[in-house]
Amino acid sequence: MPNVVVVGAQWGDEGKAKVIDWLAEQADVVVRCQGGCNAGHTVQLDGNVFKFHHLPSGLLYAGKQCVIGSGTVLSPDVFRQEIDALHAKGYRTESLFISDRAHVTLPYHPLQDRLQEQSLEQNKIGTTGRGIGPTYMDKVGRLGLRVADLYESSTFLRDRLTQIRAVKAPVIEQLYQEALPSVDDLMAVCQQYAALFQPYVTDTVVLLDTALRAGKTLLFEGAQGTLLDVDFGTYPFVTSSNATAGGACTGSGVGPSRIDRTIGVMKTYITRVGSGPFPTELSDELGQHLVQVGQEFGTTTGRMRRCGWFDAVLGRYSVMTNGLDGLAITKLDVLDALPEIQVCVAYRHRETGALVHHFPARLGELEQMEPVYETLPGWQTPVHQARRWEELPLNARRYLERLSALLETPISLVSVGPDREQTLVLQNPMTMQGSRAEAYRSPNVAQSV
Ligand code: GDP
Ligand code: IMO
Ligand code: MG
Repeated sequence: MPNVVVVGAQWGDEGKAKVIDWLAEQADVVVRCQGGCNAGHTVQLDGNVFKFHHLPSGLLYAGKQCVIGSGTVLSPDVFRQEIDALHAKGYRTESLFISDRAHVTLPYHPLQDRLQEQSLEQNKIGTTGRGIGPTYMDKVGRLGLRVADLYESSTFLRDRLTQIRAVKAPVIEQLYQEALPSVDDLMAVCQQYAALFQPYVTDTVVLLDTALRAGKTLLFEGAQGTLLDVDFGTYPFVTSSNATAGGACTGSGVGPSRIDRTIGVMKTYITRVGSGPFPTELSDELGQHLVQVGQEFGTTTGRMRRCGWFDAVLGRYSVMTNGLDGLAITKLDVLDALPEIQVCVAYRHRETGALVHHFPARLGELEQMEPVYETLPGWQTPVHQARRWEELPLNARRYLERLSALLETPISLVSVGPDREQTLVLQNPMTMQGSRAEAYRSPNVAQSV
């Protein structure tokens, strides 16, 4: 079976975990490659709700190997809580593996995150406050600590922490008048972290290579979303890792030649948590309707998510930057009550009136963009019981077909509710043959399945 990457194709919270959970039954290994406990991934199974931050959503299946890859950053306290919560529910974690190359969030990283946000005042990013940015800053600045480093001799570890502290402490003290923990205190927490991670740590590069050589199927679980990607997102209102499909390779050590397919998860509308531009945002009653019906409150921070209409300009940009072969469209049921639905098909420059079809890099330009909407009729019928394409109301099918046509990408899955069962399969990405181009060339993709 093919190795499949699943990414968020909007601003995160698209329902990736629900899609991963559905696909994972057919995979052997589920891999998280980037991000850390900023992720909040919800799986609903027979009415039980599971919230994952660090752990791959595949852990709900007994015996699947689940990997926390080298491109992730690990917050020990959150990790411990998640493991304990899963054990308390009777789930086992013997098949969980942590990359020895993943980076560790140290006690001063969340502090640095908060201090940095405070000093940005009205330009705050609206981070999750979990220390994600500072951990990645130290990784790239070569001042980070990897999981593997926790198992060096105490002389080596002490030297390393002393070097890191010598560079960081004066900066933090001068900028924020805050002191970093002493080297002794850091040594003590590192000992605890080493013990906590020890049952799970391995060279996941070798583990994944061995799995691939044995013909096993890998499923890569993206975190965050394309527009939060540090390179392709609405910078600086982004996270600090590569949430696009390329991150699956750099964050796992699996080369691109071994990946067969990439699926982008999108809601039938769009949400965003935190600050930053959002051309199709609805700041009115309709936006509130989507918040309430879609229960759009952050899994990690509980913050209300900003809601807006589906944006096909952004969607096409996601198709490009990820090379999407298929779409998994979630939350169709949330639009059930609406008499009309709008889709942004292009932007119009407020001052010049020019039509814009590509997602701009400059935030100043993005702020000038006014959505050009196409209006489609709603279906005003509950869809949550549909299990087959033919069981969807005609207008719901037309809406989905329009999204697929605007993005020139076939639909693989449609989700009509949070539960595993509430999933319609149009083209199963784990079994379908052929390439994206081939799939899209077949006429009327959605109806032909
Ligand atoms: P992720 O971060 O992309 O995994 O998404 P989140 O878990 O943060 O947020 C998605 C939310 O939508 C979760 O509460 C899911 O249970 C829920 N969800 C997923 N698919 C559907 C759907 O089709 N309909 C409804 N109503 N809820 C859904
Ligand atoms: P999942 O995997 C939605 C957002 C934060 C903030 C920005 C930077 O559940 O889709 P960070 O703490 O990463 O430095 O915050 O990114 N953000 C997310 N938004 N879903 C997520 O993850 C997110 N992870 C980070 O709200 O705007
Ligand atoms: Mg989420």
